[in-house]
Amino acid sequence: MDNKAWIITKASRGKYAPDCLRLEMRPTATPQPGQLLLRTIYLSLDPTSRNWLKLEPSSNVFGLAPGSVMIGQAISQVEESAAAGFEKGDLVVGMSGWELYSIVPAAFVNKVKAGVPLETNTTIFSHIGYAAATGMIGIGNVQASDTVVVSAAAGATGSISAQIAKARGARVIGIAGGPEKSRFLIDELGLDGAIDYKTQDVSAELAVLCPQGITLFFDNVGGAVLDAVLMNLAHGARIAVCGQIALYDSDDRHDGQGVRNLMELVFRTVRMEGFLAGQQADRVPEFDAELERLYREGRIASRAHIIKGLENAADALTLVLSGENKGKLMIEVSPPPAAAGDG
Ligand SMILES: NC(=O)c1ccc[n+]([C@@H]2O[C@H](COP(=O)([O-])OP(=O)(O)OC[C@H]3O[C@@H](n4cnc5c(N)ncnc54)[C@H](OP(=O)(O)O)[C@@H]3O)[C@@H](O)[C@H]2O)c1
Repeated sequence: MDNKAWIITKASRGKYAPDCLRLEMRPTATPQPGQLLLRTIYLSLDPTSRNWLKLEPSSNVFGLAPGSVMIGQAISQVEESAAAGFEKGDLVVGMSGWELYSIVPAAFVNKVKAGVPLETNTTIFSHIGYAAATGMIGIGNVQASDTVVVSAAAGATGSISAQIAKARGARVIGIAGGPEKSRFLIDELGLDGAIDYKTQDVSAELAVLCPQGITLFFDNVGGAVLDAVLMNLAHGARIAVCGQIALYDSDDRHDGQGVRNLMELVFRTVRMEGFLAGQQADRVPEFDAELERLYREGRIASRAHIIKGLENAADALTLVLSGENKGKLMIEVSPPPAAAGDG
């Protein structure tokens, strides 16, 4: 079988440019014992894909280098199995290549959750949903008494974390770019307030919407948005740092918009903690059960922004950086099986 794969050509620093990747035709390998040959169906494009392409040591846990196949989370179908517990036709989710066919260790993937649409395995029941739950529940310990703010609230992770907080009874304000996203936050997610950071004074709006102060901030953005939130925190607030996307296209970590108001952490005795989706491994079953319950009760929903064709992956990654994605960005690399994920 002929394969096509996105190969890293060079480190991408500063503004992301798709020429750090090259699409190549190559032969498909045969799985060795313990491995699977997967056909990619949905490939998740993530802000962190952009970070990995910097090839910086601190964010390059997978040892990517020029010449490597780019990697990401994907939903795939097993074409050939050399691993116990998997057989041809199984649908799986996990780390894979930006390619049509991937050879992966079976330990890198799990079978998809049955009875939910296939793409929901890259939104709610994935690194996205688990990051939302880890930050909002595991790190933030969200309570009904909280005044919660979420940045990039209309995005994949932000929208799920905001819905978790709403489901737990908190008052939730979302920050996002543009009027359509503000409407989505109020009308579709049922949030208590929305701020368009592109046209509004975020700090002034927060002062009006959160007069008693923000008690929990789920931050996906950093930069100027974080600075505005810092000035509106309640004493003893918590900040769960999920990401800092405003900085991902910066040339290095020290230029651009530095956070200026960190002294507020001292004055207001605030705890600020970063986290990774899989970090609280012992709590994943609990997070998974809560996400599934909320999903089945219709209390959390997710949007998928699907672009067809592996050849579009390198260009499409720009959408998460410009905010043009409407929900979880993914590439449909090959067609899903007809009956997959029927609920
Ligand atoms: N810690 C973890 O394990 C983990 C796991 C998954 C994701 N994350 C992080 O979570 C964040 C969201 O990721 P996602 O996958 O859910 O993507 P997403 O929110 O669906 O897409 C990214 C969104 O970020 C916003 N954005 C981009 N540049 C911005 C800027 N300069 N200032 C303000 N907003 C900006 C855009 O929305 P607007 O239109 O609102 O600007 C864009 O739609 C990222 O920081 C990512 O690194 C972390």
